[in-house]
Amino acid sequence: MKSWPFNELQGLREKGLLRKLITTTPLGKGIVEVNGRACLDFSSNDYLGLSHHPKIKEAAKRAIDEYGVGSRASRLMSGNIRLYTELEDAVSKLKGTEAAIVFGSGYLCNLSIISTLTGPGDLVLLDRLCHASIVDGALLSRARIIRFAHNDLSSLKEILEQKRASYKKVLICMETIYSMDGDMGPVSEVLRLARQHDAMLLADEAHAVGVFGENGEGIIGQRDAPRPDIIIGTFGKALGGYGAFCATTKAFCDYLINKARGLIYSTALPPASLAANIKALELLPDLENERKGLLLCAKDLRDFLVKELGLRTSGDSQIVPLILNSVQEVLELEAFLKDRGILARAIRPPTVPKDSPRIRFSLSNAMEEKDIESLKKALRDFFKGRKKS
Ligand SMILES: Cc1ncc(COP(=O)(O)O)c(C=O)c1O
Repeated sequence: MKSWPFNELQGLREKGLLRKLITTTPLGKGIVEVNGRACLDFSSNDYLGLSHHPKIKEAAKRAIDEYGVGSRASRLMSGNIRLYTELEDAVSKLKGTEAAIVFGSGYLCNLSIISTLTGPGDLVLLDRLCHASIVDGALLSRARIIRFAHNDLSSLKEILEQKRASYKKVLICMETIYSMDGDMGPVSEVLRLARQHDAMLLADEAHAVGVFGENGEGIIGQRDAPRPDIIIGTFGKALGGYGAFCATTKAFCDYLINKARGLIYSTALPPASLAANIKALELLPDLENERKGLLLCAKDLRDFLVKELGLRTSGDSQIVPLILNSVQEVLELEAFLKDRGILARAIRPPTVPKDSPRIRFSLSNAMEEKDIESLKKALRDFFKGRKKS
């Protein structure tokens, strides 16, 4: 009986699917130390390098001095410090919504919200590439779940036409930038279908906030109307901090305060995180050049992979996947890059479909042109003389 974890782990090891933690020390400027060696970090979501921004660090330190290191209680007890109101006001202003509510993390936010808004007798429609937190929220809700083909409006339309009438509430879930493919979700078109079929729409902007939009608001603009019922964003990616938000109506926020178990039964965010998030949002509008530079750099890397190396990638964002045929090749490339001082992690099933293991290059504005050149050189060397996927 005691040997079952070992046996399962052995099975994963044999298929090249065993996951292991590495210990890192982030040094800023897109550099991370691994085993005493400084590496270029193409595996963080710190797209704008804000995790090391001096003004954000200063704001976090001040919050510790004023409020202490922990929030000491859940929000509904005494953990709802003034910084929450400031942060939620800043989020609703950024997203142009009536209200916003902050959660502990993006995972917790999706898990809580989806399982709160839907239940038995309801239907949750998921884009096939939705993040695990969205899938898990749907599973926890005990609603019926149907997954539609990725970004496929006709597949979604057909399901709505055939199934809508059999369920009380319907919630469609999508992302505006997909985390492993880096491509955009057709949010306006999905919203139109949602409205036609009396369904709610949740759009997760985890990888869009900070990077897209005139003021870094994401793909869903500040003035867009109509808009999804629920807009999710995270502070742990381009904003460099920790936590997540849901931007929506006041009524939905009040409902979540009363019903969302991930908010009710969990300790409030640490003051330093709240203050860091407030400062990051304050800085966002001034980072237009950084956003442009980042997206240009991603386009250049994508062009390099396709045109110069004849490889397969996807997307339109700062996330540039290099899709290969086998887990073995992905692991070989990961190890090769690591030898060259480049940290870019292998993404394997079940995180991505079986037939498309990949290296996910996530770019950061903190990097310099010479860093991208080092990556290109390493890729050229690895693929020299190899049969392309
Ligand atoms: C689309 C999406 N939503 C939610 C999350 C979870 O966010 P967090 O890391 O804050 O838990 C992620 C994380 O990768 C994500 O990609």
